[in-house]
Amino acid sequence: MSKKKVAILISGRGSNMEALIKVCQDASFPASIELVISNKKEAYGLEIAQSYGIQIQSLNRKNFPNDNEFDNKISAILKENRIEIICTAGYMKILNADFISMFRDKIVNIHPSLLPKYPGLNTHLRAINAKDKKSGATVHFVTEELDSGPIIMQGSVPIFSNDSSEQLSRRVLEIEHKMLVTAISLICAEKIKKRKDTIYFENKKLSKKGISFNHLMEQR
Ligand code: GRF
Repeated sequence: MSKKKVAILISGRGSNMEALIKVCQDASFPASIELVISNKKEAYGLEIAQSYGIQIQSLNRKNFPNDNEFDNKISAILKENRIEIICTAGYMKILNADFISMFRDKIVNIHPSLLPKYPGLNTHLRAINAKDKKSGATVHFVTEELDSGPIIMQGSVPIFSNDSSEQLSRRVLEIEHKMLVTAISLICAEKIKKRKDTIYFENKKLSKKGISFNHLMEQR
């Protein structure tokens, strides 16, 4: 099977992006990163992508009359590059409904909480303040409702009693990198499929929580 063409949308640091770029260098990995797009020209991730020789584009929303035109430009770039899967990894801008419907079931996001808990921002602080015993990350398909699309994979980590939001964020980020790589690999190898709102993994229907990353790792 040929590698699927993947684009990554970022706004900042790009550590999830780099984790993906690294594994894609392996000839047997089923994806190739064709393009990294940022809505922030100062995003550090752009420098990282460039250092790997990946095509980068940065677009400033201020140069477009509205959000629709901005997203239209991104979708035109994605089409020109024949992108098959779009990964939003720390992309801090909401995609508009037309964009999402144009790339239905092709946009994959990583979010640093155990959704449906804590969509949106400040997830680690919210989990600590709620005295949760665990947190984690979720990889999901993007739908029109923010951080609410069908869940592909979830992985959890413990929250310790004295955790700061930075400490928890580091622990979650470590699992994010592994999860994103695993999920993109399964999607690009066509082992994960979505029909209507149900996700199938190797033809078995998944629960609403998706694949348990922790369980998957125990099996390996
Ligand atoms: C990650 O925690 C990701 O889950 C969230 O934004 C952060 C991006 O980090 N959506 P990075 O840019 O990949 O380092």
